[in-house]
Amino acid sequence: MYLGLDIGTSGVKAILLDGSFAEIGAAHAPLTVSRPAPGWSEQDPDSWIAACEAVIGELAASRPEAMATLRGIGLSGHMHGATLLDASDRPLRPCILWNDGRSGDQCAELESRADFRGIGGNIVMAGFTAPKLLWVAQNEPVIFERTAKVLLPKDYVRLWLTGEHVSDMSDAAGTLWLDVKRRDWSDDLLAATGLSRNHMPALVEGTALSGHLRRDLAQRWGVPQVPVAGGGGDNAATACGMGIVAPGTGFLSLGTSGVLFAATDSFAPNTQDAVHAFCHAVPETWHQMGVFLSATDGLTWLSEIVGRPVADLAALLPTQITAPACSGFLPYLSGERTPHNDPGATGAFWGLTRAAGLPDLVQSVMEGVAMAFADCDRAMRAAGSGLDAAYVVGGGARSDQWLQIIAAVTGLTLLKPRSGDLGAALGAARLAAACAEDDISDRIFAAPAVGAEVRPEPELAALYAEKYDTFRRAYPQLRSLS
Ligand code: XUL
Repeated sequence: MYLGLDIGTSGVKAILLDGSFAEIGAAHAPLTVSRPAPGWSEQDPDSWIAACEAVIGELAASRPEAMATLRGIGLSGHMHGATLLDASDRPLRPCILWNDGRSGDQCAELESRADFRGIGGNIVMAGFTAPKLLWVAQNEPVIFERTAKVLLPKDYVRLWLTGEHVSDMSDAAGTLWLDVKRRDWSDDLLAATGLSRNHMPALVEGTALSGHLRRDLAQRWGVPQVPVAGGGGDNAATACGMGIVAPGTGFLSLGTSGVLFAATDSFAPNTQDAVHAFCHAVPETWHQMGVFLSATDGLTWLSEIVGRPVADLAALLPTQITAPACSGFLPYLSGERTPHNDPGATGAFWGLTRAAGLPDLVQSVMEGVAMAFADCDRAMRAAGSGLDAAYVVGGGARSDQWLQIIAAVTGLTLLKPRSGDLGAALGAARLAAACAEDDISDRIFAAPAVGAEVRPEPELAALYAEKYDTFRRAYPQLRSLS
């Protein structure tokens, strides 16, 4: 039995796999995000622990025999969060999350101090951890002075589970303090932020041992003191759950954020178009990703405004999409990363007439998100990671209409896994198995069975090609208004 724990932005998910990696139990506990100022996004680190206690406690109560034969735990979590700990490992302030844009000004300053693009493989963007620490140094100097360790969200959970300060390569790359090619902390990049290796956790590969479960927790849950694997950032872990390890394979995640992910066999940055180049969670493997910050969040935003659940909105569309909506939409509700790298970017509708109804707005939001994926696809191709097909994951993948639109706009064939919900928790559990069984073959990282293929529909694709041109012109023109 293997336990995978994923610290997601909106909740913690735990899944339990049996020895043949079939899911035999799952539990979920919600988390909240606080937004104390415009563009800010924070979470209480201890709320992750409380949520983990809830989900593991639930599995211990519902599957005691299975838990008694547990062989390993794997972790994944939302990336880039700055969890600042004092010398006794207590959080000094709420964690500053991946979708927090407050450190926009600090990005250019860091870039002028060290070669973040060459060594870290990425433009310094507001969502990453390094500029957040410079923001803290400049705005909360007392907290910065007291900071003894900086941990990523899942690594704070690991500290609670094992007592060890450890991170894995894929998540560590998202701090921007990693020498991504060498898979080690960069003293130069840390020094540019006023930090040193002492502030960092130890590093292991995602498939390697990071520590053992503490005795008191093992006793409480009726499990052995099992190994805890390095695990991975949520995107690398999701890939591991879908066997996406070989170059040329990838996935498209239609979650709160939009992600287009491709595995690579070498460190291959393309900072020009704001593509992320990180380590993968398996050894000697890297990956590239295009990321934009509001994907399903665009529809959630609209659903909050009109006071109707997201599922109701999606149901307003015809089963087969045959024509674009009358209006267009820029989905940059929380700023933007790939390809514009603009934390100050904003969303917009255009082309509205008196005839536009709620279904048009819903379809426009879905189309805007699809076009942001098309932008990621272009940027990834320029970086050498052209995908023809991609597995789809995330809550938005439940909408067939949204998948039809994305396939037609991007030209990608979308592969819908048969067994629905393949998230980062599954990948975390597989990383636990790789660690416990000392095996990183495709026996552990197997590709899921495909339930349905959504291919680009040629007539719709031709109509969207025209609309995508307008979309690409809209951002620079509308940006000049704000
Ligand atoms: C990736 C990113 C998000 C978060 C939250 O760079 O910021 O995908 O990991 O899921």
